[in-house]
Amino acid sequence: MQRRTYLVFLGVPGAGKGTQAKLLEESLHLPQVSTGDIFRYNLKNQTELGLLAKSYMDRGDLVPDEVTIKMVEDRLQKPDCAQGAILDGFPRNLVQVTAFDAMVAPYGGVTLVPLINLEDDEAMRRITGRRVCRTCGAVYHVDFNAPKESGICDLDQGELYQRADDAPETVRNRLYVYYKQTGPLIGYYYAHSLLADLDGAQPIEDVQSKLKVLIDKALQR
Ligand code: AP5
Ligand code: MG
Ligand code: ZN
Repeated sequence: MQRRTYLVFLGVPGAGKGTQAKLLEESLHLPQVSTGDIFRYNLKNQTELGLLAKSYMDRGDLVPDEVTIKMVEDRLQKPDCAQGAILDGFPRNLVQVTAFDAMVAPYGGVTLVPLINLEDDEAMRRITGRRVCRTCGAVYHVDFNAPKESGICDLDQGELYQRADDAPETVRNRLYVYYKQTGPLIGYYYAHSLLADLDGAQPIEDVQSKLKVLIDKALQR
């Protein structure tokens, strides 16, 4: 079986996983697979999956593993994932890691796990200023990464909105869930020599260029 490239982004909510993953899509010719985005897409389209996910997402809790794992399994079988994928938001706990390892084992396993480090206070500032395009999903920040025209997407003039789970109380629970459930993955991937630490407090372009160096190195292994 041919080797594929699988990147797994780790980092607190607001660390910049989505921002960095999206930027990599073009240069790596790999799709970003964001479980949060897929849930939000289903919610927008009022599918059964979307309605199920909503109650968990509104609280900042994880959607049940069974549902999430099945969803990712289906997504990774789509033709655009034939060379691999950039995972943003999955796996997120030890059950999901085990399932993911099994999914990617035939293709050489996980390539690299970029961990974007950021302090909680800064993550909170980023999340409360975040705005997302309703049509294309592009992510902005009112201060750090502002669109040319306030409230309007640079790429397709879509309307920018604030995510329902970006209220401060919900963000606090998302941080708690991250440390409790996703935190153990840092040790897991470190032990497998796959972890790549990044300083998420740097400007977006700087994080991206450091990331590219680390990925190039990993691809040569
Ligand atoms: P998800 O959508 O994955 O949210 P999250 O993990 O909380 O992460 P965020 O999207 O908030 O942060 P990010 O790191 O992507 O930051 P971004 O690039 O946008 O999950 C949402 C929910 O879905 C979960 O709570 C759960 O309910 C459910 N779910 C998802 N996956 C699941 C799973 N596997 N299992 C079960 N449930 C699941 O950046 C943030 C802001 O900062 C932006 O405004 C951006 O412009 C700005 N910014 C980014 N980088 C920089 C920088 N370097 N400098 C300045 N500003 C920056
Ligand atoms: Mg995101
Ligand atoms: Zn847009």
